[in-house]
Amino acid sequence: MVHAPSWRVVAASLFLVAGAGSAAAEKAPEKTAPAASRGPGHAAIASANFLATNAGFEVLGKGGNAFDAAVAVSSTLAVVEQQSSGIGGGFLALLHRASDKKNIFIDARETAPKAVDMKVYVGKDGKPDRDVSTNGPLSAGIPGEPAGLVWMAEHYGKLPLAVSLAPAIRIAKEGFQPDKRFLGTIDDRKDVLARYPASAAIFLPGGKVPTPGWTLRQPDLAKTLERIAAKGVDGFYKGETAKLLVSASRSAGGNWTAADLEAYKVKEREPLSVDYKGYRVILAPPPSSGGVAIAEILNILSGFDLSKVDVAHATHLTIESMRRAFRDHNEYLGDPDFVTMPLDMLLSRFYADGLRATISPDKATPSDLLPTAMAPEPGMHTTHFSVIDADGNMVASTLTVNLEFGSAFVAAGTGVVLNDEMDDFALVPGQPNAFGLRGALANAPEPGKRMLSSMSPSFVFGADRTAVIGSPGGSTIITQVLEGILAFVDGKSASEITAQKRYHHQYLPDRVDVEDGAFDAATTKTLTDMGHTLRKRSPWGFMNVVTWDHRTNTLDAASDPRRPSGLGKVQ
Ligand code: DON
Repeated sequence: MVHAPSWRVVAASLFLVAGAGSAAAEKAPEKTAPAASRGPGHAAIASANFLATNAGFEVLGKGGNAFDAAVAVSSTLAVVEQQSSGIGGGFLALLHRASDKKNIFIDARETAPKAVDMKVYVGKDGKPDRDVSTNGPLSAGIPGEPAGLVWMAEHYGKLPLAVSLAPAIRIAKEGFQPDKRFLGTIDDRKDVLARYPASAAIFLPGGKVPTPGWTLRQPDLAKTLERIAAKGVDGFYKGETAKLLVSASRSAGGNWTAADLEAYKVKEREPLSVDYKGYRVILAPPPSSGGVAIAEILNILSGFDLSKVDVAHATHLTIESMRRAFRDHNEYLGDPDFVTMPLDMLLSRFYADGLRATISPDKATPSDLLPTAMAPEPGMHTTHFSVIDADGNMVASTLTVNLEFGSAFVAAGTGVVLNDEMDDFALVPGQPNAFGLRGALANAPEPGKRMLSSMSPSFVFGADRTAVIGSPGGSTIITQVLEGILAFVDGKSASEITAQKRYHHQYLPDRVDVEDGAFDAATTKTLTDMGHTLRKRSPWGFMNVVTWDHRTNTLDAASDPRRPSGLGKVQ
């Protein structure tokens, strides 16, 4: 067990005292409402791949609900978008069950194996050794996705797994033509895929990056999915699949054991909830850092009237809120089963009052004098989908293998690409991970511990409208989802939310990443004059949003226009 060092709590309480005078934000919002009492009568799904969206509708057509559809969408993504998520990875999902209006959080995040040894991830220079933490079997945590899908089907679905996994099994067997994006990620990872014979045999036929028109068939992956369909959790974590996974990992220098796989458990946790401008926002709790950060930012922003200031000032206040939330993110958060976190404080409106009081109305606060790291461009990995079914059940699920093709290591005989989620731990406290995030002891690796995640599947419930929202993008997930929530609260449609230009600040590096077109020249100048460092960055994210307008009982679904392979569909 790691406890947050007490000096941090003292430092935080200074903020608290500074702002204790203003408790206006504690006032109950007026319009907050749960989801509508009857279902929309039709369904909406938005995912990163049209085959996955269609798989969801196929299963709804067989009498399934949103949770069965989520199993179908996830497992199909594990075949057609396996550079982003898969059976060898994990996910965090929010579920809304219409019958009792219950919100449920499913934590199917990977865990560190028992033999985890922090030293192997540290290079001679004392910095994280990225080759070990992002490539090959030592970079892989024990997968959570298979257990999570089985859990969702058995506890919330209506159909047997054999039905909800059928589209994925069929596509893995019969094959599909990977899109340009899939082929591009093979190209990005070709050198590491080539290291491992089972990876190269699948993704580098003839030793080369395949070209458009190539059909990918994966009989081994189909069999792995069939064993899950037939035996549930035991079909993956015990028996033949488990044996193949352990022997492949160990023979390539990994440290997994049969006991690690058998010990894996899905966790249901209490979602976070925050009220913002008459909406109730339901967010992912730790081991997601996203929900806490978004709640903190919304709490800070709820004390400002952004509609009364110009775009530059509204953006400045939002950036300053991001900066403060990411600072806390880096310091305090980790796996709730291992770390005591001051969540009551972080989520309190009084704490937000304190943070708000430290924001200058027209001057950037320098983050720190610590050396900054260049966070890389977020790539084409990790995925999010959103579902609302005819009864009003909802799923927001973000799934990942971490970087493109995870560890790039396929366990021979399984067709399963193992994740490289170990890099999401703070492998060397204070040193940035692949997303430039600097963790502390709270997120240090320990046997059986879940690594902190930025994944932020979210619901926004209002009297008139409801949204299901999320996106991939590493640390930028948090600010994308925040900006999506703010846009939804401002009345924007699903396609406007997904298309809206993005900006991002994560405390360190101390700069604002800006998508082309996000700010006009005047806003750029005002922000720069305030002391913000703006950096142009190529487009990021792959947001998939569904919305429900209760006044007209209509659904809307949109997939990020930045990525052509996605599909948002209402049917
Ligand atoms: O859980 C996390 O925060 C990361 N593994 C997510 C990685 C990601 O979103 C990569 N996306 N482009």
